[in-house]
Amino acid sequence: MKQMKSRKGIILAGGTGTRLHPMTISVSKQLMPVYDKPMIYYPLSTLMLTGIKETLIITTPADHEAFKRLLGDGSQWGLNLSFATQDAPRGLPEAFTIGQKWLDGAPSCLVLGDNIFYGKGLGTELRTISSSDNASTIFAYQVKDPERYGVVEMGENGRVLSIEEKPKAPRSKLAITGLYFFDEKAPEFAQNLKPSPRGETEIIELIRCYLNLGSLSVHDLGRGTAWLDTGTPESLLQAANFVEVIEQRQGLKIACPEEIAWRLGYIDRVHLTELAQKFKGNAYGKYLEGLLS
Ligand code: DAU
Repeated sequence: MKQMKSRKGIILAGGTGTRLHPMTISVSKQLMPVYDKPMIYYPLSTLMLTGIKETLIITTPADHEAFKRLLGDGSQWGLNLSFATQDAPRGLPEAFTIGQKWLDGAPSCLVLGDNIFYGKGLGTELRTISSSDNASTIFAYQVKDPERYGVVEMGENGRVLSIEEKPKAPRSKLAITGLYFFDEKAPEFAQNLKPSPRGETEIIELIRCYLNLGSLSVHDLGRGTAWLDTGTPESLLQAANFVEVIEQRQGLKIACPEEIAWRLGYIDRVHLTELAQKFKGNAYGKYLEGLLS
């Protein structure tokens, strides 16, 4: 039997963030706050809940240092974070060509730095998918405005009938979210993609490579899960409001890397206490201290 390498994560956190200008002229979009945390904490937490410890964070060259300052090498959370840059937004598949050497033949999970996932049992679901031998898995989520996203049309028995990027006349309401599990072939497929008429390589074409091989799985996230968008001022505020409502109601934080690391056993109580000290006196620090009592 083929010995599989452990799956590695990639967070694509580049781009120009023009839809959020002037907010994102001098600050990376993925560092903008979503209620009480920087946006990148959310996709990073998704990868942590998937059981992935080794992650590559791709940013613009200008924002590289700010991300490093925020996240360090990840060891404070029991992770191993690496950084790379993308000098222009030439398409989502470039994550795999930039990350090819770093991936070193490992299967991967790509998450877009502006995608927020939340829901009961999501971590368990993601861990199951991550350790399955599916060559590729994408996630579908019903939305009111599918024309803004990649769209998948499903037939009988989970058969994929079509996938399209931002179609004018969508064939279904199922958007393809910014979370993708691929096997070790993704960098090679990405390398052979040609730019679309808008001058970028398209993730939908990378997904099509797997579809054409008959090895694309689609996982429907269902209505019990929240997939939140942060692409416009309205959706950014809605995401922040969503996080605030849940956190205030339950007294539990969404996407708190310190807490996830502790619950997964990546760090112990002593270490968590030390991390809490860094935020001494503020609400975040009190929350971390509260976990220990
Ligand atoms: O959010 C899910 C959607 O993400 C999918 O449904 C679409 O199929 C997929 O193409 C993508 O659509 P977007 O319109 O959101 O793509 P956008 O170009 O805005 O890029 C998404 C994020 O990735 C954004 O925060 C910027 C970053 N990015 C984008 C490109 C093209 C990069 O870091 N590098 C890039 O080259």
